[in-house]
Amino acid sequence: MNESRPESMSSFWMPFTNNRDFKAHPRLLVSAEGMYYKDVDGNAVLDGTAGLWCVPCGHAQPKIVAAVREMVGQLDFAPTFQMGHPAAFDLAERLMDYTNHKFGHVFYTNSGSESVDTALKMALAYHKARGDAGRTRLIGRERGYHGVGFGGLSVGGIGPNRKAFGPLLPGVDHLPHTHNLAKNAYSRGEPEHGAELADELERIVALHDPSTIAAVIVEPVAGSTGVLIPPKGYLKRLRELCTKHGILLIFDEVITGFGRLTTPFAVDYFDVEPDMMTTAKGLTNGTVPMGAVFSKKFIHDAFMDAPAGIELFHGYTYSGHPLACAASLATLEVFQEQGILDHAREVQPYWEDAVHSLRGLPHVIDIRTIGLVAGIELASIPGKVGARAFAAFKQAFADGILIRTTGDIIALSPPLVLEKKHIDELFGKLATVLKNLD
Ligand SMILES: Cc1ncc(COP(=O)(O)O)c(C=O)c1O
Repeated sequence: MNESRPESMSSFWMPFTNNRDFKAHPRLLVSAEGMYYKDVDGNAVLDGTAGLWCVPCGHAQPKIVAAVREMVGQLDFAPTFQMGHPAAFDLAERLMDYTNHKFGHVFYTNSGSESVDTALKMALAYHKARGDAGRTRLIGRERGYHGVGFGGLSVGGIGPNRKAFGPLLPGVDHLPHTHNLAKNAYSRGEPEHGAELADELERIVALHDPSTIAAVIVEPVAGSTGVLIPPKGYLKRLRELCTKHGILLIFDEVITGFGRLTTPFAVDYFDVEPDMMTTAKGLTNGTVPMGAVFSKKFIHDAFMDAPAGIELFHGYTYSGHPLACAASLATLEVFQEQGILDHAREVQPYWEDAVHSLRGLPHVIDIRTIGLVAGIELASIPGKVGARAFAAFKQAFADGILIRTTGDIIALSPPLVLEKKHIDELFGKLATVLKNLD
């Protein structure tokens, strides 16, 4: 294993990164175990973000590592187009169990972006298959993040992600976001105000006519934009309206899936059932890239009435890759054997109190929490949005904690296996960073 600095950093064009700044002041991780990374200088870095929201069971879980090692020696690759391998089918059954059979089928992808584009395509093709081909519009939400494919970008609502890449998909509209600092600041769990924002769907439906709308996609808790938690009753209302107008509802659970809210999915936390659910990240504990789209049985079945032949002309070379399936099967076992969700529920109140203890520190204008997620919003430096939080991120890393920032919001989402001592370390160090921030 190479634990030394790379000879050159010039060729790797890094994603979502200030490349010039990074290469001048690199942050290099060389190993990980449990709650900690180790950097290239041998310093321990407490993982406050589960990598990128994707390591719920903690790093280097022996069972997952062993399963991937074993599979790579047994079956390095197998196609899933007109072929199959047992692990892909076994995993699909286990995933149905894990969703408590709220869904009937699962389609494999390799990332959150691919899951989203797959779900959007399925929604369009579903309506066509039923002879309702006029339903072509897709509705997303302002500040939503659904990855970087053209479908996900089009329904997504983060301006800087979109503006260089037009034209995006036509026939897309957006619900308003639900962030309301004036009414909902310092919320724990679902904020009180804003359920009525779901009724904006009625306005969009009236504008375009329901017969033109295929699907609505939202993140149950918007993560990448800086942790926006749905107001009480909002998701239920959205569900009611979609049902009323024959519109498919898609929950993008790429970050909320696999325990982030202390339940298997946000679907369970909010007790609202969408027609499709997109996932990735925690599905394999981040070990091997994999995504999955869960669909209700009726969606799948609409395709099965077609004349004999391929029912859905869609898929990826690596859909159901053997290593990813092995990692995911082992991840589900770890969840169960180690009682990961029970543990997450146990530490959640301590986590929540620790986050809210930052209230009153310099620049902090809001703190919001749900499950093992926290958003800490800082006042922006006039004319330099994002600069203050990014300075916090850099200082935090130097002090041995990994946090994530988006705009001037610090988003925290640690591995679910964290203990009280990790919470103390994380917020002890973060408080010091905030106190010393310009
Ligand atoms: C809600 C949501 N959807 C989609 C994605 C895209 O996932 P990926 O980066 O794996 O393509 C993300 C990534 O953070 C996400 O948070």
